[in-house]
Amino acid sequence: MKLKWKLPLLFLFVYMCAVLATGLCFNLLINSNAAAQGGDTAFRTVASEYLSIAILFLAVFIGASFAVLSIYLHFKITKPIHILNERLESASTEHSSPLPDDRNDEIGTLYSQFNKMEVRLQQSREEQLGIIAAIAHDLKTPLTSINGFMELLSTRHDISEQEKQEYYELVLKKSQQIGTLINTFSTFAKQEVELETMDRQPTDARRLFENIIEEYDVELSGLGFALKWENNFVQNTFAMIDESAIRRTFGNLFSNAVRYGNKNDLCIYLSGYTDRGHIYFQIEDNGTGVQDDLLPLIFQKFYTVDTARQSENGGTGLGLAISKSIVEHHGGTMQAFNSEHGGLGVRFTIPMIS
Ligand SMILES: Nc1ncnc2c1ncn2[C@@H]1O[C@H](COP(=O)(O)OP(=O)(O)OP(=O)(O)O)[C@@H](O)[C@H]1O
Ligand SMILES: [Mg+2]
Repeated sequence: MKLKWKLPLLFLFVYMCAVLATGLCFNLLINSNAAAQGGDTAFRTVASEYLSIAILFLAVFIGASFAVLSIYLHFKITKPIHILNERLESASTEHSSPLPDDRNDEIGTLYSQFNKMEVRLQQSREEQLGIIAAIAHDLKTPLTSINGFMELLSTRHDISEQEKQEYYELVLKKSQQIGTLINTFSTFAKQEVELETMDRQPTDARRLFENIIEEYDVELSGLGFALKWENNFVQNTFAMIDESAIRRTFGNLFSNAVRYGNKNDLCIYLSGYTDRGHIYFQIEDNGTGVQDDLLPLIFQKFYTVDTARQSENGGTGLGLAISKSIVEHHGGTMQAFNSEHGGLGVRFTIPMIS
């Protein structure tokens, strides 16, 4: 039972008992008065006994009621709040077992929310550590090369001018790579903040679909790749969309297909449809795809299937994480699957305006 009902009922019960006890005492007092009016010494003694019993009974009853109430409030409210306070103090530093949330009242709900919050904190702590490790790894690789070349240049004096020039160029290339990485990281941090203040407007799904086709058909055919599409959007299928953010999502999905498709006759398939109040966009390719067990991982920040971390392709593993985050900020979902065309398929949804 909820505390909002339990506490008033408890107070009502104590109040009723107090009224009953007072009534009983009055009854005893009336009896004692009647006995006293009898005038007899024996009657007077009985009367004073009645009075003492009445006062004692009332005192004991009120004392016991308050003791029971205090114990109940201590164990059911004060102590759980105290435990919660202690856990809040240590929440960000220690990982301990979840609080018991089997109670069916407000304290139980509070504990269960607190447990969920602790899980989220733990996940974001792990994510932060992963991000720091990935940034450190990405920066360390070119930095190690720069150190190696600089050491060669400063210790070996028999290097020809041409070799020196080559080393300088490599050092320049690696330092530019570091610059690009740093730019990517700061853009990523900025985008995370921008997502909170997205400007979503009612957007026609069919118009958006056609604009995307127009934009990428030319670009892909310029690269020698094909784009095929189909959609069943009826007119006036609207959704609240921040178009520039969703275009960034499309941009990453198309660039991924081109980057990782690894095929000369690469073909990208774009489809759009509606189902149960949602707009669906699906991008597939006939490239190399991603192993089944790695599919859920590609949405993690800084995850790249190639453990050499895409140094060849220049990818940092942020595109899909950002795309998923953009879609989720629109109230939708994003999943990856193995396409029947042979490569990777990514599908995302956005709720329609009803
Ligand atoms: N169409 C695809 N085919 C095969 N593998 C893919 C495809 N799309 C993504 N991947 C794999 O998923 C990983 C994550 O993709 P994501 O877009 O998040 O990062 P990225 O392309 O490496 O870097 P960024 O997008 O930040 O430049 C890629 O590194 C790649 O290994
Ligand atoms: Mg990408």
